[in-house]
Amino acid sequence: MSSINLLDVVGILAGVAHFATPLVYYAYAKVKWLRKPWNIAANEDHRPRVSILIPTYREAGLIERKLDDLLSQDYPKDLTEVLVVDGASDDGTAEIVDKWALSHKDFNLKLVREPQRAGKASALNRALARAAGEVIVTADVDALWPREALRETLKWFGDPGVGAVSCLKKPTGRGRSRLEDNYRHYYNVLRLAESKAYATPVFHGELAAYRRDLLEMFGGFPADLGADDSRTATRIALMGFRAVTPENICVDEIVPREGYSSWRIRRAQHLIQHFSTLPEAGHELDKEFRRILIVESFLHVLNPWLLLASVLLLATSAALLGSLAAIGALLPGLVLLGVEAYRTWVVQQSFLLAASVRNLWSRETVWSKQAK
Ligand code: GDD
Ligand code: MN
Repeated sequence: MSSINLLDVVGILAGVAHFATPLVYYAYAKVKWLRKPWNIAANEDHRPRVSILIPTYREAGLIERKLDDLLSQDYPKDLTEVLVVDGASDDGTAEIVDKWALSHKDFNLKLVREPQRAGKASALNRALARAAGEVIVTADVDALWPREALRETLKWFGDPGVGAVSCLKKPTGRGRSRLEDNYRHYYNVLRLAESKAYATPVFHGELAAYRRDLLEMFGGFPADLGADDSRTATRIALMGFRAVTPENICVDEIVPREGYSSWRIRRAQHLIQHFSTLPEAGHELDKEFRRILIVESFLHVLNPWLLLASVLLLATSAALLGSLAAIGALLPGLVLLGVEAYRTWVVQQSFLLAASVRNLWSRETVWSKQAK
């Protein structure tokens, strides 16, 4: 038995920093930002020409429903074009799109077939080269939009200071769990609060809209890293435009039935790639946005390692030196695993850690398909 030692002190400090940073940030975001007015002059009558880009890879089971979903949007059809880019799917996805197009001849839909699969961002760039819209919207096959989603999104572009708009997400489908619901709730609150402060650096490709001229200024979607959506929004915000996820634009995302952990780890890999290589600001950076970028980068890239370090130091001290202080610090951490919110947080940290390690050998810019 020994009294408190250096391992204990560093272990406890690392643990306190790990939990305090997100808690303080979350509280700050809720109190200071969440209730702020938008300070954006959204215009209900704004009707820009829009191109919706849908990349598809092995989506035979869901694509028809997604096309019907786009057809049912209450936005003028003569201002809407849809570009499906299929990444050489071998399950008949492209054929289903062709057939659907034949039975909806008045709907402006084009199918582009890639000679081989080259990843989502590359498909988006292929579509962008053919798109005529003033606003470019990306959609994923596995997320359904409410009927007014497109109109609600585009009205924000009535303010010339807005460069990008995305959605919040609601988990659905057979893979949905309390874990995913809790994680999504926490994430949605932060996205909304950051949007009100200035811009959020995390976007959702399931419905992400960008001003086309801005997108073209940096050569379209980034093919060298996974988070095409978050990266593009951040670039636009760094150019001095707002990039926001309004509260009333929320899409239903289908959670995979199998491979939930690998799905979350892959997405975490993409966010870590994004936050660990943030581009330079091309414009004087908004003060709040600078804060957001610093904290979000810390939370995604470094903070998970503080938890791991804390547990390892305290466990070593408890096992090798019999430190009561270490045992006293570890025990509440274990007991709290019975509390759902805490458990959700710890699981998310383990996904981020696994993702950092996995990024060392695979960037997952072309990923395997999960069963939905
Ligand atoms: N053409 C083409 N080629 N399309 C692809 C490819 C490809 O290699 N890979 C995936 N897609 C299509 C899918 O068919 C789907 O419509 C969309 O891209 C998103 O793929 P998902 O498999 O559903 O990925 P996700 O939901 O985990 O991806 C999320 O994170 C990405 C960044 O990390 C979404 O938010 C994406 O929008 C986001 O880009
Ligand atoms: Mn998806």
